[in-house]
Formats: sequence, C-alpha cells, structure tokens
Amino acid sequence: MHTILILNPKGGCGKSTIATNLAGYFAMRGKNVSLADCDPQCSSSDWLKVRPDHLATINHVPVKKGKLLVPGDTEILIFDTPASIHDQKMARIVSAAQTMIIPVLPSPIDMRAAERFLKHLIKIRKKTVNKKIKIATVANRVRERTLAAAKLEGYLEKLELPNGKKIPFMTLLRASQNYVYAAERGTTIFEMAPSKTFPDREQWQPLLKWLNSKRSLP
Ligand SMILES: Nc1ncnc2c1ncn2[C@@H]1O[C@H](COP(=O)(O)OP(=O)(O)OP(=O)(O)O)[C@@H](O)[C@H]1O
Ligand SMILES: [Mg+2]
Repeated sequence: MHTILILNPKGGCGKSTIATNLAGYFAMRGKNVSLADCDPQCSSSDWLKVRPDHLATINHVPVKKGKLLVPGDTEILIFDTPASIHDQKMARIVSAAQTMIIPVLPSPIDMRAAERFLKHLIKIRKKTVNKKIKIATVANRVRERTLAAAKLEGYLEKLELPNGKKIPFMTLLRASQNYVYAAERGTTIFEMAPSKTFPDREQWQPLLKWLNSKRSLP
C-alpha cells in the first residue's frame, strides 16, 4: 500500500483539492483508493458524499480518536489533513506516511509559513517519525506569468530541509475554476471534459509521474 499525505498547516493552501484530485485520479486508473480525512472541517468527506455513483469508487476512511479503519485491499491511501495541526497529531500522521506533498500558495505569508513548518517538521521528525518519508512541494493556485508566480517557483526550487537536503519541487498548478467546480460536484479535473481541463491535467503530470515511480517511496 502506498500512503500519501498532503500536509501544510497553513489554511487554504490546497490540501483538500490535491487530496481529492489525487484520489480520483488513482481510482480512475483502476486502483483501490482510500481517502482518510483527518480534518474536522470534513472537506474531503463532504466531497466524497456528493461524488456521483457513475465515477470510480473511493473508500471513505473515517478517522475517530486517531484510529483508522482502512480496507485491507487498499492500494493507495491518501490523507487529507487539517490546518493548524498540533504536534502529536502531526507526528502520528507523518509516521504513517511514505510520501508527503506540501502545497504552497504564491504569497509571502504562505512562503514564510512553509519555511517555519519545515523547520518544525524536522524537529518532530528527528524525535518521533518516519525519517525516510519522501517529501515534495507543489505551487498551487498560481496566476501564470505573474511576479508572484516567478517568486514562488524560485523559492520552491531552492527549498531544502534545515539539514541541507533538497526538497523536490514537482509542479505549478494554475488558479482555475475547474478545481472549484470539481470540489462542488465530487469530481476531479481528470474526470471532467479534457477540452476544458487539458492545461490543468498537463500541470499534474510531473507530480503523477513521481508518485507512480519508486522515487516517491522510502
Ligand atoms: N488551483 C486552484 N485554483 C482555484 N481554486 C483553488 C485551487 N486550489 C484550491 N482552490 C480553492 O481554494 C479553496 C481552498 O482550497 P482547499 O480547501 O483545497 O485548501 P485546504 O488547504 O484544504 O484548506 P484547509 O486548510 O481549510 O483545509 C477552495 O475553495 C478550493 O476550491
Ligand atoms: Mg482542507
């Protein structure tokens, strides 16, 4: 089972968007996918509730008092996580994951918050959690060809853990109403008309290639 965690304690950076789109992508490819929603806001669970029956099935994994009931035949387990997650919970979730995706928005506040989060993550990791977890970043909700986009890309390309290890920057996802539409309807950009979502699908390719390769596994 491949366990993928979407984590960044900064609110609204795109965790649920990436978690749900990834779940839909793998389910559509015939994988047995489970989605664990660790956020009391329940964005991913709500998305699953409105997911149309004719689309590929995704198992809903309820998280109650830190316990998960993951179906035994799950091939891909995706964790959506809350903003402002406290240390103990973060350590518990990170220790369960093989791969971590950190979405970051193009704003100075979000970039500074990401920096602080990585420092903190290293502290927690040293003490308690899976040290071999593979981490990558994604720039999200970016208006292409803007100064903010260029700054975020430059920042993520150079990003490293406080121990000097480079964090691969996977891709840039544009700001697109397609994500808002998909979120409302329990679908994904991969399940919408290709003519509408082609630029979005293209932007996901580096991330999907990484996730489909051994490079994203410990
Ligand atoms: N690339 C994008 N283009 C346009 N809208 C986006 C994009 N990514 C996310 N959004 C929208 O931004 C809002 C926040 O995204 P999302 O809920 O995925 O963030 P989050 O990190 O899960 O938030 P929280 O920390 O509250 O759980 C949502 O309304 C979502 O539809
Ligand atoms: Mg969320």
